[in-house]
Amino acid sequence: MPGAIHAEGLVKTFGDVRALDGVDLDVPEGTVLGLLGPNGAGKTTAVRCLTTLLRPDSGKALVAGVDVLKHPDAVRRSIGLSGQFAAVDEYLTGRENLQMVGQLYQMRSKAAKVRATELLEQFNLADAADRPAKTYSGGMRRRLDLAAALVVSPPVMFMDEPTTGLDPRNRQQLWEVIRQLVLGGTTLLLTTQYLEEADHLAHDIAVVDHGRVIAKGTSDQLKARTGGERVEVVVHEREHIATAVEVLRGFGKGEVTVEEHTRRLTVPVAGGARLLAEVIRELDIRGIEMDDVGLRRPTLDDVFLSLTGHVAETAARDEQDEPDEQDEQDESPADAGKEAVK
Ligand SMILES: Nc1ncnc2c1ncn2[C@@H]1O[C@H](COP(=O)(O)OP(=O)(O)OP(=O)(O)O)[C@@H](O)[C@H]1O
Ligand SMILES: [Mg+2]
Repeated sequence: MPGAIHAEGLVKTFGDVRALDGVDLDVPEGTVLGLLGPNGAGKTTAVRCLTTLLRPDSGKALVAGVDVLKHPDAVRRSIGLSGQFAAVDEYLTGRENLQMVGQLYQMRSKAAKVRATELLEQFNLADAADRPAKTYSGGMRRRLDLAAALVVSPPVMFMDEPTTGLDPRNRQQLWEVIRQLVLGGTTLLLTTQYLEEADHLAHDIAVVDHGRVIAKGTSDQLKARTGGERVEVVVHEREHIATAVEVLRGFGKGEVTVEEHTRRLTVPVAGGARLLAEVIRELDIRGIEMDDVGLRRPTLDDVFLSLTGHVAETAARDEQDEPDEQDEQDESPADAGKEAVK
């Protein structure tokens, strides 16, 4: 039986760009799928196709058992969406924004007010509730947008980079909100650049690159596939990086990764503690002073790097920097109801 979100062979081109090149996905009911991929991989395009904001060139998709292409209105009624760029009305206060969404969903005005107050508390916005959203910081807007996506609790939720731009405390709180949602039976597709987030929240992970799913599995399965342990060394002097790379190359089973600014070098190895001891001895003989050295299991970052050849972009991008497609991308499902499938 297909999952609560199911896509087969989704293709979407923009001119010469094949943003989606045959994407297959399946998210069982009540689970979280983490969609990972470098910038431009096609994550947002996939979310937009699945949430009826964009019509794929070919392929099929079912959300909550309903065909996305044939019955977009019905799909919109069963989903919630928080887009990559916050979609709040600047001139309304936080409270008014949330009440408006409730009313768009045909909640009674009293119920919409109660729900708005609850969400403002939950997302740490109570103090700013009665200020226009245009006075909010980037992280506050983001939180308001997420709150708006949760005014009603739809059975299927899509969140496109929900925690980009949130500080660590707000990120942790959102994770808790998400956990509660999923315990309550919600199915969630989440895109993120924070691999730790996928590690904490996602039952399954799909890595996308160039519009294709290039790997799928649980976090542990993907880590196991990436193989073995890593030796990680932080050298004391920047000038020693080149020699240390040479030493690690001699012991490693793959490419040495170098983070210049932190002077951190990583290499996949086989051989555990004994090998680590040999590495340390050799570095010592070469006169390389170390600030830190150790053996560790692969992280999702390693998985991402080995699969895509990119490091995940964890530096929070300023949401205001990318306004070009704001109008198109900013749809909350309530707004989406007003827009025809393109
Ligand atoms: N409306 C559009 N017009 C033209 N090209 C587009 C459009 N939307 C997306 N693209 C292109 O499709 C590709 C996939 O973009 P998409 O936004 O889906 O990537 P993404 O994985 O969400 O990236 P990011 O991590 O930066 O958010 C990119 O090459 C992008 O430039
Ligand atoms: Mg995106």
